[in-house]
Amino acid sequence: MDPEIIGIRSISFTLNDRKVTVPVQKSMFLIDLLRHTLGLTGTKEGCGEGECGACTVIVDGLAVNSCLYPALEVEGKQVITVEGLQDQNSNLSRIQQAFVDKGAIQCGFCSPGMIMSVKALLDASPDPSEAEIREALLGNLCRCTGYVQIIEAVQQAALQLKDSS
Ligand code: FES
Ligand code: FES
Repeated sequence: MDPEIIGIRSISFTLNDRKVTVPVQKSMFLIDLLRHTLGLTGTKEGCGEGECGACTVIVDGLAVNSCLYPALEVEGKQVITVEGLQDQNSNLSRIQQAFVDKGAIQCGFCSPGMIMSVKALLDASPDPSEAEIREALLGNLCRCTGYVQIIEAVQQAALQLKDSS
């Protein structure tokens, strides 16, 4: 049977710098494509309703809630997940290392989404004020840390990224 008739389409996009072509159900959200079809479970599902930010990934440079983002819409786009941040030797990125250094990870459930929001922020605005950091993280909820260490981690990562550029 024609896959289109049963609501399945093949799409191609760039995922963590690699071209992928996958079958997608028309009603599927990006989080399910990433976690279930592609096995990238670093992206977490919390509320499933766009409230907590645990599912944040980057699409064409913007942080998005993958639990609300239709999978079909990534056709031809660049998607980055937390799995795409380490280098070829599996070293943590500066943002990830800063979260470790500052104790900004406790249970860790919010961390992948938080870190992707930080990456989108620092890619667009390498020297953010504390107010800008707080605003960029408004959609990412953390039950554990109280946010202070997270803000410090972002400030450390921004400084280090600036020094290394
Ligand atoms: S799981 Fe997507 S915003 Fe909560
Ligand atoms: S570290 Fe537990 S929710 Fe943020």
